[in-house]
Amino acid sequence: MHHHEAHSHGDQTLKNVLDLDAEVARPQIEALTAHLADRLRDHPVRTVLDIGAGTGTGTFALLSRFPSATVTAVDTDDAMLDHLLAVAARHDLADRITPLRADLDEGWPDLPRADVIWASSSMHHMADPDRVLRDIRATLAPGGLFAMIEMEDMPRFLPPGFADGLEDRCLAAASAAKAEHLPHLGSDWPARLTAAGFTQLEDRALTVEIPAPLPGNALRYASTILGRYQATLAGRLTPADRAALDDLLRPGSLTARPDLTLRSTRDVWIAR
Ligand SMILES: C[S@@+](CC[C@H](N)C(=O)[O-])C[C@H]1O[C@@H](n2cnc3c(N)ncnc32)[C@H](O)[C@@H]1O
Repeated sequence: MHHHEAHSHGDQTLKNVLDLDAEVARPQIEALTAHLADRLRDHPVRTVLDIGAGTGTGTFALLSRFPSATVTAVDTDDAMLDHLLAVAARHDLADRITPLRADLDEGWPDLPRADVIWASSSMHHMADPDRVLRDIRATLAPGGLFAMIEMEDMPRFLPPGFADGLEDRCLAAASAAKAEHLPHLGSDWPARLTAAGFTQLEDRALTVEIPAPLPGNALRYASTILGRYQATLAGRLTPADRAALDDLLRPGSLTARPDLTLRSTRDVWIAR
């Protein structure tokens, strides 16, 4: 079984998670692309590559930041690319996107030199990320930038101490479950970037913090993430934790809570 088969075709809740994540993190992602544009003010950006594009969070953010650019969106999952293209068509952006279905574990496709390469929450999926990083480096145009983003942890929503630390135990169980098929999750990315020949320019945190009471999209994000715990971690949680999670996810229960917040942090490395 391939390590990324967890992202099976048509995993609707994963697409929802990615789209909701794009919504709640939009200001921070826009700030990051603005920062890239500032660093690239002397370098025309015409060709962009989005590695493991998913539903297109990075693709769309980069298309609007770099109006003369086209983006090649690479993903191994047809359902993700179909979703991305449907959104592109709705926004009249299809002619600026080249979708490319490719499993980067099987080798590097024939790709044009890129002024910006973006890899958000995708490098840890690769079987051999060091090889993919070397290929990315060889594909980056002189003067171009590579932006790599990895989640530090799953987002948190519950008040500290809720149900005696239920969310901590869910996060720990989710990490343990992921570690079984994603051995590179949380690895030493700066060391790997250097080993692949990159010069690191910057290490930034991308932090999303939304206070209580959460707006609708953040509440939907909370119920989707907590619902995934309920659906996938049952065997790793105690009966008491399962009951607490069931209780929390009863219809109407989450949306009635005035005390939920959203906290999530990603690491961003900018390299050339
Ligand atoms: C967690 S999602 C991130 C999506 C998007 N970059 C974002 O930030 O929302 C990871 C994506 O990487 C893709 N992916 C995983 N392994 C891959 C591989 N070997 N080759 C190409 N894409 C891959 C998955 O299909 C998925 O869409």
